[in-house]
Amino acid sequence: MNGRKSSGFDASTPNVARIYDYMLGGKDNFAADREAAERVLQAFPESRQGVRVNRQFLGNVVRHLAGEAGIRQFLDIGAGLPTQDNVHQVAHSADPEARTVYIDNDPVVCVHGRALLAKTPAVAMIEGDLRRPEEIWAAAVDTGLIDPGEPVALLLVAILHFLDDPYAEVAKLRELMAPGSHLVITHLTSTKARDTDIDEIRRIYAGTGSGVVSRSIDEIKEFFGDFELLDGGRFISPLAIKRFEVLGWGGVGRKV
Ligand SMILES: C[S@@+](CC[C@H](N)C(=O)[O-])C[C@H]1O[C@@H](n2cnc3c(N)ncnc32)[C@H](O)[C@@H]1O
Repeated sequence: MNGRKSSGFDASTPNVARIYDYMLGGKDNFAADREAAERVLQAFPESRQGVRVNRQFLGNVVRHLAGEAGIRQFLDIGAGLPTQDNVHQVAHSADPEARTVYIDNDPVVCVHGRALLAKTPAVAMIEGDLRRPEEIWAAAVDTGLIDPGEPVALLLVAILHFLDDPYAEVAKLRELMAPGSHLVITHLTSTKARDTDIDEIRRIYAGTGSGVVSRSIDEIKEFFGDFELLDGGRFISPLAIKRFEVLGWGGVGRKV
């Protein structure tokens, strides 16, 4: 049931991407999404700020990768609804030649994405599922925007906790990436103190058709395999890392 592909538009059923949109202060959400989001906020009052910190982290990492690190291609899986400072915009601000492919398994997210990106060069939006890594990799390469022989930034931001056991899929993607590529992950953390709250989050998201799996920081680090972890303090203040580790953790790894 985790990460289940939604069958299409249904305003009366809460939806993963629209709950997140509401948390971020967006307008692409309905009563059912707002009600679910308010329940999440009751269990985790830090979530509203947490999603903003998640976006800040993502923005800072993309700016660094497109700038200093010289990465020119971005593959964002579980991209979500368009918001402010989308990945391609941040990447373009650092490198106007940067190319971005967005992937999401929610058809409604893809419709919104395509509408926003209609006249934007070097950006594509694909409907696809992280649980089929070879298929989505091939589709991304097919757009002509991702060169498999060149380092890529693979963004798995706030998506892996919706999947039961995505370690093999992430390992397959790591294998396909060229040396010098970067993997960026943010993920819901698990702590003993918040077990009951996580149970409540799981109940809320069951209404969207998705599961929720929180993981310890060590378990999240396993997604990086033998990639070299960069210092997270470059992208987010150590104070914010400490404050939000009860909710989530993020990292950036480089393929050597
Ligand atoms: C919470 S949003 C994160 C959006 C964005 N990455 C961010 O962090 O700002 C999670 C997104 O992952 C998508 N998603 C969930 N399971 C997926 C899967 N198996 N394959 C592709 N996308 C998935 C959802 O549709 C949703 O848009």
